[in-house]
Amino acid sequence: MSSSSGSGARLLPGGPVAQRVLAEVAASVVALRAAGVTPALATVLVGDDDASAGYIRIKQRQADGLGFASPHVHLPASASQADLRAVLADLNADRGVHGVLVQHPIPVGLDYDRALAEVDPDKDVDGMHPVNMGRLALGLPGPLPCTPAGIEALLAFHQVPVAGREVVVLGRGATLGRPLAMLLAQKRPTANAAVTVVHTGVADWPRYTRRAEILVAAAGVPGIVRPEHVRPGAVVVGGGVRYEGRRLLPDVDESCARVAGAITPRVGGVGPTTVAMLFRNAVEAARRQSGLG
Ligand SMILES: NC(=O)c1ccc[n+]([C@@H]2O[C@H](COP(=O)([O-])OP(=O)(O)OC[C@H]3O[C@@H](n4cnc5c(N)ncnc54)[C@H](OP(=O)(O)O)[C@@H]3O)[C@@H](O)[C@H]2O)c1
Repeated sequence: MSSSSGSGARLLPGGPVAQRVLAEVAASVVALRAAGVTPALATVLVGDDDASAGYIRIKQRQADGLGFASPHVHLPASASQADLRAVLADLNADRGVHGVLVQHPIPVGLDYDRALAEVDPDKDVDGMHPVNMGRLALGLPGPLPCTPAGIEALLAFHQVPVAGREVVVLGRGATLGRPLAMLLAQKRPTANAAVTVVHTGVADWPRYTRRAEILVAAAGVPGIVRPEHVRPGAVVVGGGVRYEGRRLLPDVDESCARVAGAITPRVGGVGPTTVAMLFRNAVEAARRQSGLG
């Protein structure tokens, strides 16, 4: 299941986690279709950014492969916020559409957070709608933010105990650090951790990361986590990345594998689990909305 990084640390790849989750999603899609419901994940692209169009195509292909219907709306770069709102209102009202994904980023001049807040929270497959963040904070059921949920699934899959252990999250961003901290502190067997969050307000953050049994990098600062920040034998999860063109620059310096007991690979760690969670949110949305969940 796990291999070595070549420096002693056990590798924690995300691919097998994603495969298992996607197999479960595919089985749920089959069951829904057998019950007369075709789960539909709608994608919305605004503008002509090549990378965004590429990401949408990949997600659509994956959706098709899993048996989802994948209606797509493409608005021109000249679209207004009101145009986008109208599209989202239509998708919200369409009972045949169970999930809605607005590809990020959208053109300058449009407000992504506003658009996200206009998606029906029950169709929010990113799990990032303010209502869903509130549900997460309150421990209520709802779609979970994909990257944090992917990290929890990754740790569970690789049988990394989390409950009762000291987790330190470097970064309190809305996409990753903050929701992950809430998730891993919840009272569930795969969470239930003692979670500390550090950020630029904690100048001496290495003091905290050095005592972490599980360290999650969520800063988006290439190479910020170095071996001297890692407790020997700790589990290190690299969530933060920055792209320079097509080059991926992770938060976790590769040399951390010398110190860590287990570590996510530079490529193919958290990323694949994030995408899998998107489809899990989509199929669960379809189940709930069709009364089969
Ligand atoms: N792998 C994936 O699939 C995936 C998916 C989603 C996001 N991500 C990545 O996750 C990262 C975090 O995204 P986000 O949107 O949650 O966060 P964000 O809004 O980019 O915030 C970054 C956080 O890191 C902290 N930080 C930055 N530089 C720091 C430093 N030098 N020392 C200490 N703390 C520092 C910031 O502290 P302050 O709050 O004090 O400014 C902030 O809390 C990004 O790199 C993003 O690309 C990865």
